[in-house]
This record gives sequence, C-alpha cells and structure tokens, in this order.
Amino acid sequence: MASDTTLCILGASGDLTSRLLLPALAQLLTEDPERSVKLVGAGIDEWDDDAWRTVVAKSFASAGASGPAVESVRDGAIYRRTDITDPDGFAALLRECEGRVALYFAVAPAIATKGCEALEKIDLPEGIMLGLEKPFGSDEASAAALNELLAKLVPEDQIYRIDHFMGRSTVLNVLGLRFANRVFEPVWSNEHVESVSIRYDETLGLEGRAGYYDHAGAMIDMIQSHLLQVLAVVAMDPPSTLDAIDFRDAKAAALRATKVLDDDPVAHSRRARYTAGSIGERKLPDYAAETGVDPARDTETLAQVTFEVQTSRWAGVPFTLRSGKALTEKFSEIVIRFKAVSHLPRGFEGSTEPSILRLSLGPDRMALELNLNGPGDPFHLDRGTLEAEFGEGEQRAYSEVLEGILDGDPTLSVRGDTAEQCWRIVQPVIDSWQRDDVPLEEYTAGSTGPSDWPAM
Ligand code: BG6
Repeated sequence: MASDTTLCILGASGDLTSRLLLPALAQLLTEDPERSVKLVGAGIDEWDDDAWRTVVAKSFASAGASGPAVESVRDGAIYRRTDITDPDGFAALLRECEGRVALYFAVAPAIATKGCEALEKIDLPEGIMLGLEKPFGSDEASAAALNELLAKLVPEDQIYRIDHFMGRSTVLNVLGLRFANRVFEPVWSNEHVESVSIRYDETLGLEGRAGYYDHAGAMIDMIQSHLLQVLAVVAMDPPSTLDAIDFRDAKAAALRATKVLDDDPVAHSRRARYTAGSIGERKLPDYAAETGVDPARDTETLAQVTFEVQTSRWAGVPFTLRSGKALTEKFSEIVIRFKAVSHLPRGFEGSTEPSILRLSLGPDRMALELNLNGPGDPFHLDRGTLEAEFGEGEQRAYSEVLEGILDGDPTLSVRGDTAEQCWRIVQPVIDSWQRDDVPLEEYTAGSTGPSDWPAM
C-alpha cells in the first residue's frame, strides 16, 4: 500500500538525523500509529538499505519507540546514494517518493542552497514541502537571495525554516499563559514590566562542531536564531487566531519593531570566549586551542545583547538576550521583571522587591515570585513563590516541528520575511564586533561568565 507521505531526509548519515529527526519521527509514529510514512534517506555515503535501517532502528530505539507503525516505517525505509547538487540525481531520488513529499535538508547550509539550485532545474512533485535548518543565510542579503530562490520552487507556505525552539513546549506555553489568563495579558506591557531577559546558558562546549560553530559563534548560533524567536513570542500582540497567517504576522510585527537598544551596539552588547577550565569531571581546553578553531576569527562563545521593541506596548523596556557555552550550569529562563507598585502603604516591612515571573525553558517550569505575608507578623512581607510544572519536556521540540512539515502546517516555521528581519536586527552588533568596537573578553570554562556584565 502506498504511503500518504514520504519523509525524505537529505544528510541521512548526519548527527542531526540520528540524534533528533529520527527520534522525533518515532515519537510521532508512537502517538499516531495510523500515520502512514515512507522514510527515504539520502546522502553521499555508500550505504545500502540495510545500513540505513540499522541507523533508523537504533534511533527509534533510543526514543523508546516500538509497535507496528514504528516497525513498518523502519522495515520499509530505503536509502539512495545521491549528490543533491546534481539535478538528474535529485530527480531520481524524488521518483522514489510517494504521496505528499517532505524534503528535509539536514545538511550544511551551503549544500542545501546548492540542492535548491538543482531543484530549480527539475519538475517537483505537487505540494512538496521543503525543510531547511538554520542558519538561514549568513546576513540579510544572503537570506533574501535564498528566499528568492525558494520562491521560484514552491509557495511560502510549503517552506519550513526550522527553528526547534518554536516547537519547545515552554515557548509555546508562553502563548497559553499570556492569552488564556486574564491575570497576565493586561500587565504584559511597559506600563507594568520593567525588563525582560531571555537566557540560555549551556554546559556543552564545542562538541566537535568547530567547522560550523567557529563561523557562527554564540550570536548567530543562538541569539540571531532561537532567542529572537522566543523574544517574538514574548513580545507579540495577541493574534486573532493561532493559525499560520495570524500567528506569524504577529511574530513578524514584533520582530520588525525590534532593534538594538538605543541603536548602540557598543553600549548594549558583550562578547566573550572560554579559556581552559573544567565543568564537573569534564576538562575543556581553551576554545582557541580546540581542533578546527581559527583563533584569529575571534569567535565568541558567550554573547549578551540588549534590544528594544519599538511599539506602544514595549517602548522603553530592555529585552536582554544571552547565550553561551561551557558555563557552570545549564540554565535557561525567560524572566519578566515587573515594576514596583506605585505606592506601598506605609507600615509594611520586609521584602518589597517587585514581582518576577520566571519561565524556565527546560525543565518546563513557571515561578511567580511575589511579596506575601508569612505566618507571623501580618505586616511583614516575605518572598513567596507560586510554582507550576508544565509542558511535556524537551523531547517534543523536534516532533512538533516535524509534525508541521508532515502535516503541511507551517505555523511553527520561520517565515521568510522574519528570517531576514532576524539578520537585520543583529547586523549592527556583528558589524561593531568585527570592527573590534566591543572587546572580546574571556571567562574560564565552568564559570558563570565574566562577572561584571549587566545583570539579567
Ligand atoms: C542548536 C545550536 O541549534 O541549539 C546548539 O546549534 C545548541 O549549539 C542547541 O546547543 C540548543 O538547543 P537544545 O534544544 O539542544 O538545548
């Protein structure tokens, strides 16, 4: 029986495929055993179907997936050695696909672009969906050029610029928290909010990814991509619906209004890279001494930038985004700091610090820090926290975005204009760093980063 959808993964032998895409597919098959998918792997390795099925089986098992749907996709999986820069080879690969085709470029961006150029020369199956990983282009102009090329292939709603942070339950839960609770949305503005920060500290170091990371750095790897998407979800106005048009319009409007605070990247950005140190038992060398790193490139492994969202809702509120590698602990949080009350009746003692809402980006957790009367003196305020665990954890992020592609729903994918905006937003910072206007500082691997950076 023919499958309804073919998932064709380009870059079948890559780390992304085995570590994230296949487990995500396994999860979707477990949740919906009726889903009918043909899995086609393609790459330049001399593999046969059995070699590919072994990889698929291992990844499916790592996701703890089993059952007839999972087994049938695994046993029916095929592998075709393909040079995707060659139109004839690409056309032959597409002839192996059946039903609706989702073509996932799990390859380096330069190869993906060449693959898209090859696609321009062949007839594409009706309704084909194209999934592209970040980074999308290397600046605003190259992202625009890539958008132009893609527009010649398929309509925008068949293009999936993947950002797995848009599939993270905590990010999506911000929507429910804001829009389904009257207690938050009315205070979600510069009238009540003092500052917003979004932080994604990792303990991971380079993990053998110098070829990619040494060109990207923390700014492009995390801030230009994932964290600006999170900012958009925090800052957007309530959309009329959560469909692909309304939701992405609202995100795009927030990002169009975003720029570096005061247009001053020198005052409002910091960069640093790690030197030798240890994180628990793990010893890390100087970033500059890692294999594949060119120290002269001055790549940062920790970046912090403060933006502003120039709308009547947010004018004047700093949005600080930070992300880095080789830090002491994995720490990821959206923090909304509220303003102090306009008048605190005289007579209260104790904690009067303004309220803070913390949304942890994994494990998924919400904490609202408030000033509360403790059991003793009724006029003495203590700090109390309302906490809730929510969401389904990390695992679902890739399943969520993969589901979008397989089902033809681009709501969570990054729209073309938004991808260009994200480059426009960070370009002044990148330029100032290239001019060396902002010094490249150092921090010891396993520390919390330079101690004198503006607090978040
Ligand atoms: C990736 C970055 O996109 O996101 C990595 O390239 C980073 O450097 C990762 O570690 C963080 O996301 P997650 O979901 O793996 O924590």
